[in-house]
Amino acid sequence: MTAALRVVVVGAGSMGKAWLRTVEADDDVELTGIADLDVAAAEAAAAELGRPALPVGPDAVDLARSTGAEAIINVTIPAAHHPVTTAALLAGFPVLGEKPVASTVVEGLSLAACAELTGKLFMVSQSRRYNRHLFAAKAQAEALGRVGIVSVDFFKAPHFGGFRDAMASPLLLDMAIHQFDMARFLLDADPVSVLCEEYNPAWSWYAGNAASTATFEMAGGARFVFNGSWCSPGAETSWNGAWRISGEHGSVLWDGDHEPTLDVDAQEAGDVVRPETDPGEAIAGSLREFASALRTGATPMGEVHANVMSLAMVEAAIQSASLGRRVALDDVLNASYEAALAKESNEDVLRVLKSWPSVRTALTR
Ligand SMILES: NC(=O)c1ccc[n+]([C@@H]2O[C@H](COP(=O)([O-])OP(=O)(O)OC[C@H]3O[C@@H](n4cnc5c(N)ncnc54)[C@H](O)[C@@H]3O)[C@@H](O)[C@H]2O)c1
Repeated sequence: MTAALRVVVVGAGSMGKAWLRTVEADDDVELTGIADLDVAAAEAAAAELGRPALPVGPDAVDLARSTGAEAIINVTIPAAHHPVTTAALLAGFPVLGEKPVASTVVEGLSLAACAELTGKLFMVSQSRRYNRHLFAAKAQAEALGRVGIVSVDFFKAPHFGGFRDAMASPLLLDMAIHQFDMARFLLDADPVSVLCEEYNPAWSWYAGNAASTATFEMAGGARFVFNGSWCSPGAETSWNGAWRISGEHGSVLWDGDHEPTLDVDAQEAGDVVRPETDPGEAIAGSLREFASALRTGATPMGEVHANVMSLAMVEAAIQSASLGRRVALDDVLNASYEAALAKESNEDVLRVLKSWPSVRTALTR
Protein backbone atom coordinates (compact mmCIF):
# COMPACT_ATOMS: atom_id res chain seq x y z
CA MET A 1 0.00 0.00 0.00
CA THR A 2 1.30 3.45 -0.90
CA ALA A 3 -0.18 6.72 0.37
CA ALA A 4 -2.60 8.49 -1.97
CA LEU A 5 -1.13 11.32 -4.08
CA ARG A 6 -2.41 14.63 -2.66
CA VAL A 7 -3.48 17.05 -5.39
CA VAL A 8 -5.01 20.46 -5.97
CA VAL A 9 -7.17 20.91 -9.08
CA VAL A 10 -6.95 24.39 -10.63
CA GLY A 11 -9.75 25.43 -12.99
CA ALA A 12 -13.31 24.68 -11.91
CA GLY A 13 -14.98 25.05 -15.31
CA SER A 14 -16.79 22.31 -17.21
CA MET A 15 -13.69 20.14 -17.73
CA GLY A 16 -12.43 20.93 -14.22
CA LYS A 17 -15.61 19.40 -12.81
CA ALA A 18 -14.99 16.22 -14.81
CA TRP A 19 -11.46 16.09 -13.36
CA LEU A 20 -12.78 16.62 -9.83
CA ARG A 21 -15.14 13.64 -10.20
CA THR A 22 -12.30 11.55 -11.63
CA VAL A 23 -9.91 12.48 -8.81
CA GLU A 24 -12.57 11.64 -6.22
CA ALA A 25 -13.16 8.25 -7.84
CA ASP A 26 -9.45 7.30 -7.79
CA ASP A 27 -8.36 5.69 -4.50
CA ASP A 28 -4.71 6.46 -5.24
CA VAL A 29 -5.33 10.21 -5.40
CA GLU A 30 -6.63 12.55 -2.71
CA LEU A 31 -8.11 15.97 -3.46
CA THR A 32 -6.89 18.65 -1.01
CA GLY A 33 -8.37 21.76 -2.61
CA ILE A 34 -9.83 23.53 -5.66
CA ALA A 35 -8.31 26.72 -7.07
CA ASP A 36 -9.94 29.11 -9.50
CA LEU A 37 -9.54 32.85 -10.17
CA ASP A 38 -13.30 32.82 -9.74
CA VAL A 39 -13.40 31.56 -6.14
CA ALA A 40 -17.19 31.30 -6.23
CA ALA A 41 -16.83 28.79 -9.09
CA ALA A 42 -14.39 26.76 -6.95
CA GLU A 43 -16.84 26.85 -4.02
CA ALA A 44 -19.71 25.77 -6.24
CA ALA A 45 -17.63 22.90 -7.66
CA ALA A 46 -16.73 21.74 -4.13
CA ALA A 47 -20.41 21.80 -3.16
CA GLU A 48 -21.40 19.92 -6.32
CA LEU A 49 -18.82 17.29 -5.43
CA GLY A 50 -20.45 16.86 -2.05
CA ARG A 51 -17.44 18.37 -0.24
CA PRO A 52 -18.50 21.93 0.64
CA ALA A 53 -15.80 22.25 3.34
CA LEU A 54 -12.95 21.57 0.88
CA PRO A 55 -10.33 24.40 0.90
CA VAL A 56 -10.63 26.74 -2.10
CA GLY A 57 -8.71 29.82 -3.26
CA PRO A 58 -7.65 31.86 -6.29
CA ASP A 59 -4.05 30.61 -6.51
CA ALA A 60 -3.05 26.98 -7.09
CA VAL A 61 0.43 27.22 -5.56
CA ASP A 62 -0.76 28.96 -2.39
CA LEU A 63 -3.52 26.40 -1.98
CA ALA A 64 -1.22 23.44 -2.66
CA ARG A 65 1.22 24.73 -0.03
CA SER A 66 -1.44 25.40 2.59
CA THR A 67 -3.16 22.04 2.12
CA GLY A 68 -0.02 19.91 1.85
CA ALA A 69 -0.64 18.87 -1.76
CA GLU A 70 2.15 17.11 -3.68
CA ALA A 71 0.99 17.89 -7.24
CA ILE A 72 -1.25 20.23 -9.24
CA ILE A 73 -3.76 19.36 -11.96
CA ASN A 74 -4.14 22.31 -14.33
CA VAL A 75 -7.56 22.48 -16.01
CA THR A 76 -7.58 26.20 -16.70
CA ILE A 77 -8.20 27.77 -20.11
CA PRO A 78 -5.33 27.34 -22.63
CA ALA A 79 -4.15 30.96 -22.18
CA ALA A 80 -3.57 30.26 -18.47
CA HIS A 81 -1.70 26.96 -18.97
CA HIS A 82 1.72 28.64 -19.28
CA PRO A 83 1.57 30.99 -16.27
CA VAL A 84 -0.18 28.51 -13.96
CA THR A 85 2.08 25.56 -14.83
CA THR A 86 5.27 27.66 -14.75
CA ALA A 87 4.41 28.93 -11.26
CA ALA A 88 3.64 25.39 -10.08
CA LEU A 89 6.87 23.89 -11.45
CA LEU A 90 9.01 26.72 -10.05
CA ALA A 91 7.36 26.17 -6.66
CA GLY A 92 8.39 22.50 -6.84
CA PHE A 93 5.07 20.89 -7.77
CA PRO A 94 4.77 18.33 -10.56
CA VAL A 95 1.88 19.16 -12.91
CA LEU A 96 -0.68 17.20 -14.89
CA GLY A 97 -2.15 19.67 -17.40
CA GLU A 98 -5.09 19.56 -19.80
CA LYS A 99 -4.36 19.69 -23.50
CA PRO A 100 -3.18 21.75 -25.31
CA VAL A 101 0.21 22.01 -23.61
CA ALA A 102 -0.18 25.81 -23.89
CA SER A 103 -1.84 28.27 -26.24
CA THR A 104 1.21 28.31 -28.58
CA VAL A 105 4.21 26.13 -29.38
CA VAL A 106 6.36 29.07 -28.19
CA GLU A 107 4.86 28.74 -24.71
CA GLY A 108 5.06 24.95 -24.91
CA LEU A 109 8.83 25.15 -25.45
CA SER A 110 9.14 27.46 -22.44
CA LEU A 111 7.25 24.91 -20.33
CA ALA A 112 9.48 22.05 -21.53
CA ALA A 113 12.55 24.09 -20.51
CA CYS A 114 10.96 24.96 -17.16
CA ALA A 115 10.31 21.25 -16.47
CA GLU A 116 14.00 20.55 -17.21
CA LEU A 117 15.10 23.42 -14.98
CA THR A 118 13.04 22.28 -12.00
CA GLY A 119 13.40 18.54 -12.54
CA LYS A 120 9.63 18.27 -11.91
CA LEU A 121 7.33 16.21 -14.11
CA PHE A 122 5.00 18.13 -16.40
CA MET A 123 2.65 15.74 -18.18
CA VAL A 124 -0.01 16.84 -20.67
CA SER A 125 -3.23 14.86 -20.55
CA GLN A 126 -4.18 13.87 -24.12
CA SER A 127 -7.16 11.95 -22.91
CA ARG A 128 -8.06 10.19 -26.17
CA ARG A 129 -4.81 8.20 -26.03
CA TYR A 130 -6.19 6.35 -23.02
CA ASN A 131 -8.40 3.97 -24.93
CA ARG A 132 -7.96 0.19 -25.06
CA HIS A 133 -9.38 0.01 -28.61
CA LEU A 134 -6.73 2.48 -29.78
CA PHE A 135 -4.06 0.36 -28.11
CA ALA A 136 -5.55 -2.74 -29.78
CA ALA A 137 -5.54 -1.03 -33.19
CA LYS A 138 -1.87 -0.16 -32.74
CA ALA A 139 -1.11 -3.78 -31.81
CA GLN A 140 -3.05 -5.09 -34.84
CA ALA A 141 -1.15 -2.70 -37.10
CA GLU A 142 2.03 -4.58 -36.17
CA ALA A 143 0.70 -7.47 -38.30
CA LEU A 144 0.43 -5.34 -41.45
CA GLY A 145 4.11 -5.19 -42.36
CA ARG A 146 5.08 -1.72 -43.47
CA VAL A 147 2.34 0.82 -42.78
CA GLY A 148 2.02 3.56 -45.37
CA ILE A 149 -1.32 5.30 -44.76
CA VAL A 150 -3.27 6.22 -41.66
CA SER A 151 -6.49 8.09 -42.29
CA VAL A 152 -9.25 9.39 -40.05
CA ASP A 153 -12.69 10.73 -40.88
CA PHE A 154 -14.14 13.03 -38.25
CA PHE A 155 -17.68 14.24 -38.95
CA LYS A 156 -19.78 15.72 -36.15
CA ALA A 157 -22.44 18.43 -35.84
CA PRO A 158 -22.28 19.90 -32.33
CA HIS A 159 -23.97 23.20 -31.55
CA PHE A 160 -21.71 24.43 -28.76
CA GLY A 161 -22.67 28.07 -28.62
CA GLY A 162 -20.02 30.29 -27.04
CA PHE A 163 -16.38 30.78 -28.03
CA ARG A 164 -16.05 27.89 -30.49
CA ASP A 165 -18.78 29.34 -32.71
CA ALA A 166 -16.82 32.60 -32.99
CA MET A 167 -13.18 31.44 -33.30
CA ALA A 168 -11.22 31.42 -36.58
CA SER A 169 -10.28 27.72 -36.86
CA PRO A 170 -12.54 25.90 -34.41
CA LEU A 171 -12.00 22.37 -35.74
CA LEU A 172 -8.21 22.60 -36.13
CA LEU A 173 -7.59 24.55 -32.94
CA ASP A 174 -10.03 22.97 -30.55
CA MET A 175 -10.48 19.38 -31.77
CA ALA A 176 -7.97 18.11 -34.33
CA ILE A 177 -5.10 17.97 -31.81
CA HIS A 178 -6.71 14.79 -30.47
CA GLN A 179 -6.58 12.98 -33.82
CA PHE A 180 -3.15 14.43 -34.67
CA ASP A 181 -1.82 13.12 -31.37
CA MET A 182 -3.49 9.72 -31.86
CA ALA A 183 -1.84 9.40 -35.28
CA ARG A 184 1.59 10.01 -33.75
CA PHE A 185 0.78 7.29 -31.23
CA LEU A 186 -0.46 4.79 -33.84
CA LEU A 187 2.53 5.30 -36.13
CA ASP A 188 5.15 5.83 -33.43
CA ALA A 189 6.37 8.59 -35.70
CA ASP A 190 6.61 12.35 -35.66
CA PRO A 191 5.44 14.67 -38.43
CA VAL A 192 7.74 16.06 -41.12
CA SER A 193 5.42 18.37 -43.10
CA VAL A 194 1.76 19.11 -43.79
CA LEU A 195 -0.47 20.33 -46.60
CA CYS A 196 -3.79 21.54 -45.25
CA GLU A 197 -6.96 23.16 -46.54
CA GLU A 198 -9.55 24.76 -44.26
CA TYR A 199 -13.02 25.81 -45.35
CA ASN A 200 -16.50 26.54 -44.08
CA PRO A 201 -19.43 24.66 -45.67
CA ALA A 202 -22.24 26.96 -46.89
CA TRP A 203 -24.65 25.93 -44.11
CA SER A 204 -22.06 26.10 -41.30
CA TRP A 205 -23.19 27.74 -38.05
CA TYR A 206 -19.57 28.61 -37.20
CA ALA A 207 -17.99 31.99 -38.00
CA GLY A 208 -14.59 30.36 -38.66
CA ASN A 209 -13.64 27.39 -40.80
CA ALA A 210 -15.38 24.32 -39.43
CA ALA A 211 -13.98 21.81 -41.94
CA SER A 212 -10.51 20.80 -42.94
CA THR A 213 -8.43 18.24 -44.80
CA ALA A 214 -4.79 17.83 -43.82
CA THR A 215 -2.17 15.43 -45.20
CA PHE A 216 0.90 14.96 -43.02
CA GLU A 217 4.11 13.33 -44.13
CA MET A 218 5.35 11.42 -41.11
CA ALA A 219 8.95 10.37 -40.35
CA GLY A 220 9.62 7.15 -42.28
CA GLY A 221 7.41 8.27 -45.19
CA ALA A 222 3.91 7.21 -44.10
CA ARG A 223 1.07 9.67 -44.71
CA PHE A 224 -1.55 10.63 -42.13
CA VAL A 225 -4.73 12.07 -43.66
CA PHE A 226 -7.21 13.95 -41.47
CA ASN A 227 -10.57 14.73 -43.06
CA GLY A 228 -13.02 16.43 -40.73
CA SER A 229 -15.97 18.70 -40.20
CA TRP A 230 -17.76 20.08 -37.17
CA CYS A 231 -20.94 20.91 -39.09
CA SER A 232 -21.88 17.58 -40.67
CA PRO A 233 -25.20 16.22 -39.40
CA GLY A 234 -26.14 12.64 -40.25
CA ALA A 235 -24.09 9.44 -40.01
CA GLU A 236 -21.81 11.14 -37.52
CA THR A 237 -18.54 9.45 -36.62
CA SER A 238 -17.27 8.74 -33.12
CA TRP A 239 -15.66 11.64 -31.25
CA ASN A 240 -12.48 9.60 -31.68
CA GLY A 241 -13.01 9.58 -35.48
CA ALA A 242 -13.24 6.59 -37.84
CA TRP A 243 -9.80 5.19 -38.65
CA ARG A 244 -8.13 3.12 -41.35
CA ILE A 245 -4.56 1.91 -41.05
CA SER A 246 -3.28 0.60 -44.36
CA GLY A 247 -0.14 -1.56 -44.63
CA GLU A 248 1.52 -3.82 -47.19
CA HIS A 249 -0.33 -7.00 -46.08
CA GLY A 250 -3.72 -5.59 -45.07
CA SER A 251 -5.68 -3.02 -43.12
CA VAL A 252 -7.00 -2.24 -39.66
CA LEU A 253 -10.37 -0.50 -39.34
CA TRP A 254 -11.50 1.20 -36.15
CA ASP A 255 -14.81 3.04 -35.88
CA GLY A 256 -13.61 4.84 -32.75
CA ASP A 257 -16.15 3.24 -30.43
CA HIS A 258 -15.78 -0.54 -30.72
CA GLU A 259 -13.04 -3.14 -31.09
CA PRO A 260 -10.91 -2.53 -34.19
CA THR A 261 -10.87 -5.19 -36.91
CA LEU A 262 -7.93 -6.60 -38.81
CA ASP A 263 -8.19 -7.68 -42.45
CA VAL A 264 -4.89 -9.17 -43.49
CA ASP A 265 -3.37 -11.70 -45.88
CA ALA A 266 -2.97 -14.69 -43.55
CA GLN A 267 0.14 -15.93 -45.41
CA GLU A 268 1.99 -12.69 -44.99
CA ALA A 269 0.68 -11.35 -41.73
CA GLY A 270 2.82 -11.00 -38.65
CA ASP A 271 1.59 -11.98 -35.20
CA VAL A 272 -0.87 -9.79 -33.37
CA VAL A 273 0.41 -9.35 -29.85
CA ARG A 274 -2.34 -8.15 -27.57
CA PRO A 275 -1.29 -5.03 -25.66
CA GLU A 276 -0.01 -5.95 -22.21
CA THR A 277 -1.02 -2.69 -20.62
CA ASP A 278 -4.57 -1.56 -20.00
CA PRO A 279 -4.35 2.20 -20.59
CA GLY A 280 -7.49 2.95 -18.59
CA GLU A 281 -10.20 5.21 -19.93
CA ALA A 282 -9.81 8.87 -20.89
CA ILE A 283 -8.78 11.26 -18.09
CA ALA A 284 -8.97 8.47 -15.50
CA GLY A 285 -6.25 6.72 -17.51
CA SER A 286 -4.01 9.76 -17.69
CA LEU A 287 -4.49 10.47 -13.97
CA ARG A 288 -3.45 6.89 -13.21
CA GLU A 289 -0.37 7.17 -15.43
CA PHE A 290 0.60 10.50 -13.80
CA ALA A 291 0.31 9.11 -10.27
CA SER A 292 2.23 6.00 -11.25
CA ALA A 293 4.98 8.05 -12.98
CA LEU A 294 5.48 10.08 -9.81
CA ARG A 295 5.76 6.88 -7.75
CA THR A 296 8.06 4.96 -10.10
CA GLY A 297 9.96 7.69 -11.95
CA ALA A 298 8.78 6.24 -15.30
CA THR A 299 8.25 8.71 -18.16
CA PRO A 300 4.54 8.96 -19.08
CA MET A 301 3.27 9.22 -22.68
CA GLY A 302 2.31 12.88 -22.29
CA GLU A 303 5.60 14.15 -20.82
CA VAL A 304 5.81 17.74 -22.05
CA HIS A 305 8.75 17.25 -24.44
CA ALA A 306 6.93 14.41 -26.20
CA ASN A 307 3.65 16.31 -26.33
CA VAL A 308 4.69 19.65 -27.88
CA MET A 309 4.84 18.10 -31.37
CA SER A 310 1.06 17.49 -31.31
CA LEU A 311 0.43 21.23 -30.88
CA ALA A 312 3.09 21.94 -33.53
CA MET A 313 0.99 19.82 -35.95
CA VAL A 314 -1.99 22.10 -35.29
CA GLU A 315 0.02 25.28 -35.86
CA ALA A 316 1.67 23.87 -38.99
CA ALA A 317 -1.73 22.84 -40.41
CA ILE A 318 -3.21 26.28 -39.80
CA GLN A 319 -0.15 27.93 -41.34
CA SER A 320 -0.34 25.66 -44.39
CA ALA A 321 -4.03 26.47 -44.88
CA SER A 322 -3.41 30.20 -44.71
CA LEU A 323 -0.30 30.14 -46.95
CA GLY A 324 -1.80 27.66 -49.43
CA ARG A 325 1.35 25.50 -49.48
CA ARG A 326 3.07 22.61 -47.70
CA VAL A 327 4.69 23.63 -44.39
CA ALA A 328 7.67 21.86 -42.81
CA LEU A 329 7.32 21.11 -39.10
CA ASP A 330 10.98 22.07 -38.59
CA ASP A 331 10.16 25.58 -39.85
CA VAL A 332 7.38 25.90 -37.27
CA LEU A 333 9.60 24.50 -34.51
CA ASN A 334 12.61 26.69 -35.39
CA ALA A 335 10.53 29.88 -35.64
CA SER A 336 8.87 29.02 -32.32
CA TYR A 337 12.25 28.40 -30.73
CA GLU A 338 13.55 31.80 -31.89
CA ALA A 339 10.39 33.43 -30.54
CA ALA A 340 10.71 31.53 -27.25
CA LEU A 341 14.29 32.79 -26.84
CA ALA A 342 13.17 36.37 -27.56
CA LYS A 343 10.13 36.20 -25.27
CA GLU A 344 11.36 34.25 -22.25
CA SER A 345 11.26 36.42 -19.14
CA ASN A 346 12.68 33.89 -16.67
CA GLU A 347 16.50 33.94 -16.92
CA ASP A 348 16.94 30.38 -15.69
CA VAL A 349 14.40 29.02 -18.17
CA LEU A 350 16.14 31.05 -20.89
CA ARG A 351 19.46 29.46 -19.97
CA VAL A 352 17.95 25.99 -20.44
CA LEU A 353 16.38 26.99 -23.78
CA LYS A 354 19.74 28.30 -24.98
CA SER A 355 21.46 25.03 -24.03
CA TRP A 356 19.34 23.02 -26.51
CA PRO A 357 21.39 21.86 -29.53
CA SER A 358 18.19 22.00 -31.62
CA VAL A 359 14.46 21.97 -30.91
CA ARG A 360 13.94 18.53 -32.47
CA THR A 361 16.77 17.07 -30.41
CA ALA A 362 15.46 18.68 -27.23
CA LEU A 363 11.93 17.40 -27.82
CA THR A 364 12.99 13.84 -28.64
CA ARG A 365 15.57 13.45 -25.88
N1 LIG B 1 -9.64 16.37 -23.01
C1 LIG B 1 -10.80 16.82 -23.47
O1 LIG B 1 -11.53 16.10 -24.14
C2 LIG B 1 -11.21 18.21 -23.15
C3 LIG B 1 -12.54 18.60 -23.28
C4 LIG B 1 -12.90 19.92 -22.93
C5 LIG B 1 -11.91 20.82 -22.49
N2 LIG B 1 -10.62 20.40 -22.42
C6 LIG B 1 -9.55 21.34 -21.99
O2 LIG B 1 -9.74 21.66 -20.60
C7 LIG B 1 -9.29 22.98 -20.34
C8 LIG B 1 -10.41 23.75 -19.63
O3 LIG B 1 -11.54 23.81 -20.47
P1 LIG B 1 -13.00 24.16 -19.89
O4 LIG B 1 -13.95 23.86 -21.00
O5 LIG B 1 -13.21 23.53 -18.56
O6 LIG B 1 -12.87 25.76 -19.70
P2 LIG B 1 -13.81 26.69 -18.80
O7 LIG B 1 -13.71 28.04 -19.40
O8 LIG B 1 -15.16 26.06 -18.61
O9 LIG B 1 -13.10 26.68 -17.35
C9 LIG B 1 -11.82 27.19 -17.12
C10 LIG B 1 -11.73 27.68 -15.67
O10 LIG B 1 -10.39 28.11 -15.45
C11 LIG B 1 -10.43 29.27 -14.62
N3 LIG B 1 -9.19 30.03 -14.80
C12 LIG B 1 -8.79 30.73 -15.90
N4 LIG B 1 -7.56 31.25 -15.69
C13 LIG B 1 -7.19 30.88 -14.45
C14 LIG B 1 -6.02 31.10 -13.68
N5 LIG B 1 -5.00 31.83 -14.15
N6 LIG B 1 -5.95 30.57 -12.43
C15 LIG B 1 -6.98 29.85 -11.94
N7 LIG B 1 -8.12 29.59 -12.65
C16 LIG B 1 -8.22 30.11 -13.88
C17 LIG B 1 -11.68 30.03 -15.09
O11 LIG B 1 -12.12 30.93 -14.11
C18 LIG B 1 -12.64 28.87 -15.36
O12 LIG B 1 -13.43 28.56 -14.21
C19 LIG B 1 -8.87 23.57 -21.70
O13 LIG B 1 -7.48 23.46 -21.84
C20 LIG B 1 -9.59 22.68 -22.70
O14 LIG B 1 -8.90 22.60 -23.95
C21 LIG B 1 -10.25 19.13 -22.72
